Amino acid sequence: MPNGSPPGPPPPARPAAGGAPADPPPFTPALGRLGWTAAYDAAIALFTRERWWRAALVALAAPQPGGVVVDLGCGTGTLAVRLKRAYPGAAVHGVDPDPAVLAIARRKAARAGVDVTWHEAMGDRLPEVVGAGRATTVVSSLVFHQCPMPVKRALFAAAFAALRPGGTLAVADYGLQRTRLMRGLFRIIQAVDGAADTTPNARGVLPGLMRDAGFADVAERDVVPTPTGSISLYSARRPDTP
Ligand SMILES: C[S@@+](CC[C@H](N)C(=O)[O-])C[C@H]1O[C@@H](n2cnc3c(N)ncnc32)[C@H](O)[C@@H]1O
Repeated sequence: MPNGSPPGPPPPARPAAGGAPADPPPFTPALGRLGWTAAYDAAIALFTRERWWRAALVALAAPQPGGVVVDLGCGTGTLAVRLKRAYPGAAVHGVDPDPAVLAIARRKAARAGVDVTWHEAMGDRLPEVVGAGRATTVVSSLVFHQCPMPVKRALFAAAFAALRPGGTLAVADYGLQRTRLMRGLFRIIQAVDGAADTTPNARGVLPGLMRDAGFADVAERDVVPTPTGSISLYSARRPDTP
């Protein structure tokens, strides 16, 4: 299935050569309808308590030396670069369909002096891009809340297929919003990314989708309250046997 189901908000049309508006990309860009990719890192630092949940996600991923880690929807590469720094013995791959964020990610990795392999691809192509059954760990942060339901399902299916049996999935994203305060703050994200794709996350849909994709031991490991709603950390495992 094409992973490019139309996202909730219409991303800004990019002018094509000759001045006519280009088709919108088949994914929601990093900062949703705001566009401003160059401001993405600053916005995430300011509005998501990034230090807390990224550190927790890096710890949760914990690949063994020789492991193969894939960052699904890697964006500007912050997580992939941190993973490679924390676990230099693992091979780290970043996958994202947006060349604009990948350009920032490449510069970030070069500045940090770390070797990450970047792939420009939609997430449902993960098994084809990194090899079916090859990854020991798939991580993803702040991607699923921006995706339509069929794409959320396709991404979990792709993560499952890319993982080797026994491999780990670790996800940080806006999840079930448990209090009126967090639900209210999450409306900021909904204004940026649209209600259609984000509401299922706020209702707690992610763990069930992981189970539907075949994952075992699905658990919400932490919940981080932020100025834009709570971010949940999930772990799951591809079972050893089919
Ligand atoms: C909010 S950004 C998060 C970026 C990064 N993971 C982080 O933690 O900063 C969401 C990213 O998901 C990417 N994305 C959107 N739809 C996708 C899809 N179907 N497959 C893979 N990546 C996708 C976007 O291009 C964007 O870079």
